[in-house]
Amino acid sequence: MKNKIRAGALISGGGTNLQAIIDACSKGTIDAEIVFTGSDNKDAAGLKRAEKAGIETFAVDYKSIINQYRKNPGELPLPHDFNIEEIKAKQTLIPEKAGNEKIEFFLKSRAGAEKALLDEILPYNIDLLILAGFMRTLTPYFIDKINTDKNHHKIMNIHPALLPAFPGTDGYGDTFRYGCKVGGCTVHFIDYGEDSGPIIGQRAFQIEDDDTMETIRKKGLELEWQLYPECIQKFAEKLIQQKNETIVKQ
Ligand code: GAR
Repeated sequence: MKNKIRAGALISGGGTNLQAIIDACSKGTIDAEIVFTGSDNKDAAGLKRAEKAGIETFAVDYKSIINQYRKNPGELPLPHDFNIEEIKAKQTLIPEKAGNEKIEFFLKSRAGAEKALLDEILPYNIDLLILAGFMRTLTPYFIDKINTDKNHHKIMNIHPALLPAFPGTDGYGDTFRYGCKVGGCTVHFIDYGEDSGPIIGQRAFQIEDDDTMETIRKKGLELEWQLYPECIQKFAEKLIQQKNETIVKQ
């Protein structure tokens, strides 16, 4: 039997991508094992899917951590290794024109939540972190703790649009409202920007005149369920060229 990679998953919602990955793992079509599923929302339906498959789960209540910080910033201790100047210099999520106060609020409030996530994730010693409909942007503080080797990406995401078009929270909606005749989905690595990291795979579908938001989402999701496991398998087989790395197929 081939060595399996140890993967963790983060979700926020229904978890149909997570389900496709769990099914691919159990059928043996990908050389991976999901060792945990975490969420920023304890009520995410996808957590039930994980539990049903015997996968350990956890939730970090982003909303209350951010609200607590908003109400009383002094009360939320920042991680001891959090250096705001260093993180500010790296981040590209919030434009400079938003102002220092907004940027610092974002980074500091997320650091509290991200520290809680890291406390759950790091003990699992994973090879890959899979974002499967995780609707929170991750700051450089978190990313650097997972990508400990600067030349090796370890966080993968699926996005509901053909990046670099339509980054953000509503890829299919933005594609539809723009009037595109082709839509699609993208699997990519996470970097410090919003949906801007290196692309691993993409799938496209035609948008017909009678398509609606609902039919577009359906077409897109069906492609996501195929594409995500395929990209994870490429990672498991070390077939994805990483930074400064030459891929040698055995
Ligand atoms: C998917 O369409 C995924 O591409 C999208 O959320 C949906 C999750 O569905 N992700 C993002 O928008 C990330 N920014 P699921 O919970 O059924 O897998």
